[in-house]
Amino acid sequence: MIKYLYRLLLMAGVVFISVTSVFAGNEEDRVEALLQQMTLQEKIGQLNQLSVGGFDQNAAGMMRAGMVGSILNECNPKVLNRYQKVAVEESRLGIPLIISRDVIHGFKTIFPIPLGLAATFDPELVEKGARVAAVEATANGIRWTFSPMLDIARDPRWGRIAEGSGEDTYLDAVMGVAMVKGYQGEAIDQTSMAACVKHFVAYGAAEGGRDYNSTGITERTLRNVYLPPFEACVKAGAMTLMTSFNDNDGIPSTGNGFLVNDVLRGEWGFDGFVVSDWASIYEMVNHGFAEDNKRAGELAINAGVDMDMMSYAYISHLEELIGEGKVSMETVDNAVRNVLRIKFRLGLFENPYIDEQRAEEVLYSPEALEAARVSAVESAVLLTNDGVLPLDKSKVTTVLVTGPMANAPHDQLGTWTFDGEPAHTVTPLKAIRDLYGKDVKVIYEPGLTFTREFNEDGIAKAVKAARKADVVLAFMGEEAIMSGEAHCLTDITLKGDQRKMIEALHATGRPVVLNIMAGRPLVLDFEIEHSDAIIYSFHPGTMGGPAVAQLIFGDETPSGKTPITFPKNVGQIPIYYNHNMTGRPYNGTETMLYDIPLRAGQTSLGNTSYWLDSTFEPEFPFGYGLTYTTIEYSEPSVEKTEYGVNDVLRASVEITNAGDREAEEVLQFYVRDMVGSVTRPVKELKGFKRVKVAPGETVKVEFELPVQDLSFYGIDMKKKVEPGKFRLWIAGDSASGKPVEFEVE
Ligand code: GLC
Repeated sequence: MIKYLYRLLLMAGVVFISVTSVFAGNEEDRVEALLQQMTLQEKIGQLNQLSVGGFDQNAAGMMRAGMVGSILNECNPKVLNRYQKVAVEESRLGIPLIISRDVIHGFKTIFPIPLGLAATFDPELVEKGARVAAVEATANGIRWTFSPMLDIARDPRWGRIAEGSGEDTYLDAVMGVAMVKGYQGEAIDQTSMAACVKHFVAYGAAEGGRDYNSTGITERTLRNVYLPPFEACVKAGAMTLMTSFNDNDGIPSTGNGFLVNDVLRGEWGFDGFVVSDWASIYEMVNHGFAEDNKRAGELAINAGVDMDMMSYAYISHLEELIGEGKVSMETVDNAVRNVLRIKFRLGLFENPYIDEQRAEEVLYSPEALEAARVSAVESAVLLTNDGVLPLDKSKVTTVLVTGPMANAPHDQLGTWTFDGEPAHTVTPLKAIRDLYGKDVKVIYEPGLTFTREFNEDGIAKAVKAARKADVVLAFMGEEAIMSGEAHCLTDITLKGDQRKMIEALHATGRPVVLNIMAGRPLVLDFEIEHSDAIIYSFHPGTMGGPAVAQLIFGDETPSGKTPITFPKNVGQIPIYYNHNMTGRPYNGTETMLYDIPLRAGQTSLGNTSYWLDSTFEPEFPFGYGLTYTTIEYSEPSVEKTEYGVNDVLRASVEITNAGDREAEEVLQFYVRDMVGSVTRPVKELKGFKRVKVAPGETVKVEFELPVQDLSFYGIDMKKKVEPGKFRLWIAGDSASGKPVEFEVE
């Protein structure tokens, strides 16, 4: 009897300790204590993510049985609380769900698309915007977002170029870290939303700019170009990561143990969890990498993918795979540990529910809208200006507002705007009427009602209206649906009759100011010829209207710099600034197509790397952007010309505002490693600073660069600084400035 009693007390003690340590003790103790209590089914349940819409009894039943660890795509706080109540109060162990959503550039208050946010070169502002998104989304129950998207993109045909931070590794890393910090917050509390850095990896290198297509990126280029932004975000504390759809060098990322087990966890020490992309486990069957979903599940869990988004591979086959010895219990336990760790870290066990009253209160706050407006101002890139901007309010009495994007509240928000409401969008038309309607007469004649429209009558009406105006403000671009996932193009010029309309407006002789809202850089040769100024807003979000109106009328000054190269034509793609030199670099003396003498025979036209029918240079280089004054740069100077590998390089430049308007200049710091054990890019961004300069003012700007930041993976695949000659530039874009040399011993 006593023995029985003793055992009972012992069991009670164990249960008591494990239950209490689930709610007390450090994170790892709590994870272990809970894991010890879980059945195999409950463990597998934590690795299963379900997409739900509305309250579904079957889904609730699975949660009650502990078979769901996370849900996505439901945002109604009442519905989410109902689901959470089932998981927490009706399942055996009460493990809360982690509720997720694609909050990509704002939840309700929509910010510029990430490609636009990158153009701000303002990480503090981007962090602020991510914080706004986190406050709005978490108040509505979303505690995990599938953002930031870190995919380096060098091909504007690819629709998802809209979602990333462009072509540069350094800028991508800086912007990714800013978003991770903004989403998760300085200290974890109920407004913290777990970031999910994606898509791991090289998804943006899809051949032909066609989404989901294969990529062929070598390990060295992965390590020197594509992986560093992910590493930076992991080091900044990103809680989760998502694998990518593509097969790279024949291996789908979702089944690539080298990426997840070796690099992410082995080299970087990542302790969060990894989720597949939507059905990307199952899609290894389509890839021809797995015979069936069961094999796909085996490959994914053994590669280190912890959670299955909508393949049902884990929930359907893991128990069997364990029984067959193809997946170890330890592998499953480790995956469950990773998921539970983040649930504990987010405080979901203490606060699983949403305050339904508060959900509405925090949306569209004045601070949120102002942050969105400033972001839209700073993300706008002034590409051309013959002097027509800013408009002189003392001379302009009548403006024509025209074009399919002048009053397009849905399309202005851009791609991945699941929860943004067009009713809250302030369009350029509304902003110009509200802000300037007292000073100038505003005529509105859209000409085209959407960007793909063919409408000669509409154009005729716009042209007629243009003749009554002093200046034409034409808002053109792409509908939101024309960029984003799976929305790729082979022709990246303005669609529909937009060019015809621009030509007709220009033919009236009135100055034409073009504002283009698009999800990618477009080919603009025609637009440049048929307009007097172009402001590129990407898709500027909820407050894009006031932002572009204030830029046009001069109450704001452009400061944006393009985070992506604008090609002259689609044939130049891929074209990006940080390319290699090649053995026969372009030198500008080449003979172009129409300069070739007739019957030229075997005349050498210039055996260098160029095209006969297109210039080598892009339309606008990475980092380019004008403002309403002229900023003059001195040559950079360096503190000394020789450095050890552990020194800090100090360089400076003087900039002078030679105009009569204040400006905020984004100075860019580039370096070239002249000789390496492998060929190195002609230039790489290593730093940037936004600096205000008053009219006539000269400002000295200094940069510091640890020489270790010049390290790269060389011929031996080891990351190190290689001694030798370097050049550095400090300039207003990637194609300007004079270099200064230094040496690393
Ligand atoms: C999509 C996207 C991914 C997104 C996920 C959930 O297919 O590739 O970026 O987060 O599915 O919507």
